[in-house]
Amino acid sequence: MSTAKLNVDGQEYELPVVVGSEGEVGVDISRFRAASKAVTLDPGFGNTGSGQSAITFIDGEKGILRYRGYPIEQLAQNARFVDVCYLLIYGELPNKDELDKFRQELTYHTLIHEDMKKFFEGYPPTAHPMAILSSMVASLATYYPELSEDENDLNIVRLLAKAKTIAAYAYKKSIGQPFMYPSNDLSYCSNFLHMMFAVPTEEYVVSDVMEDALNTLLILHADHEQNCSTLTVRTVGSSQANLFASLAAGICALWGPLHGGANQKVLEMLEMIRQDGGDYKKYVDMAKDKNSDFRLMGFGHRVYKNFDPRATILRNTVDKVLAQMGTNDPLLDIAKHLEQVALSDEYFVERKLYPNVDFYSGILYRAMGIPTNMFTVMFALGRLPGWIAHWKEQRDNPAGRINRPRQIYTGPTERNFVPLEQR
Ligand code: CMC
Repeated sequence: MSTAKLNVDGQEYELPVVVGSEGEVGVDISRFRAASKAVTLDPGFGNTGSGQSAITFIDGEKGILRYRGYPIEQLAQNARFVDVCYLLIYGELPNKDELDKFRQELTYHTLIHEDMKKFFEGYPPTAHPMAILSSMVASLATYYPELSEDENDLNIVRLLAKAKTIAAYAYKKSIGQPFMYPSNDLSYCSNFLHMMFAVPTEEYVVSDVMEDALNTLLILHADHEQNCSTLTVRTVGSSQANLFASLAAGICALWGPLHGGANQKVLEMLEMIRQDGGDYKKYVDMAKDKNSDFRLMGFGHRVYKNFDPRATILRNTVDKVLAQMGTNDPLLDIAKHLEQVALSDEYFVERKLYPNVDFYSGILYRAMGIPTNMFTVMFALGRLPGWIAHWKEQRDNPAGRINRPRQIYTGPTERNFVPLEQR
């Protein structure tokens, strides 16, 4: 086994080196503090491997993303989202019997308990659907308490099946329309679109274009290894909190504009540029100005330093879907200009800031008639299997420990309490 050497104040420490199946090298510092009394410091965890995982591989320098070894391009082109859920959670693509059973279970569990519908009455119509989704997912734990380890699969299925019903109901609540019950003869994606867009007074047929676009979007979002929300799920899960509590925490983490919330912000930014006369160069300059805190939303990524393969797939999908739907979106023109500038401007080139998945997903959701404040909910629905797979991987690891990092304290040293009258 190879080792690495670290010298602290003249004392040398030898540390084991771990090599992953794709040749990634990690220096194992888990016993370093016990030997040296020093911790390693890595704010933002940019250089920290939080553990070993067999779920997703990313090579950010080469623009590679694979789920359980399968390239994202192949999955996006050939698979259905339900196959990908099974693959991520159970490690292998399902055979026909396994897939039929999984599909049947996901359909059977789509309804939410009638009492849970009453919860929606308490939210204001302006409530952000991410707040509703996270609290409703946590509330599932009140109806479906943690099962034995063997039975956890049932709650996994329940979560995957019911989250889309909750998401669609949150939208219906916001526009004051009656909830549409799921329909058992529809596929996973079609069922969601039916619950979103059908009304009791008219027939609604889900178009193949919409179903395929949603399928692609969900697959592209399905996992992304140790990002902010997945790390949150793993951290909450590391205390052995139940599946619903752990996933609700992940949904909250995803909401932020630097993470999944970016897709909403991209659209708001494009709309702002359009309303401002379309002068995108002004916004590029603002993003480069260190005195301004404006960033080009949808650009840059902690891991991808070449291109985001998900963005490449989506860019092509957007063109295809808009052409099929006959939509001509002025925001897409602004987006393409921004992309060109960013790919040629020294500031972006030097910092390797390429369009990320959120840059195009918003345009696609918009073309599908999904409102802006639902974009991050769509990301969350896609990310469910990834979060579940990580929660399960950690839970099933007998050597797993609670996540509990150290710190370097920079506050006051010891001082005596001063009574109020002497302060
Ligand atoms: N616009 C302008 N400058 C940027 C941008 C941007 N979008 N992103 C990074 N930079 C600059 C940043 O100012 C810094 O410059 P300097 O070296 O001169 O100080 C440099 O690039 C490195 O940035 P960083 O903040 O250290 O990079 P990070 O790895 O901590 O952050 C990021 C990654 C995605 C949070 C960031 O690029 C960003 O804020 N992007 C916009 C938000 C966004 O699109 N988020 C979605 C990410 S993809 C979906 C997901 O997986 O969550």
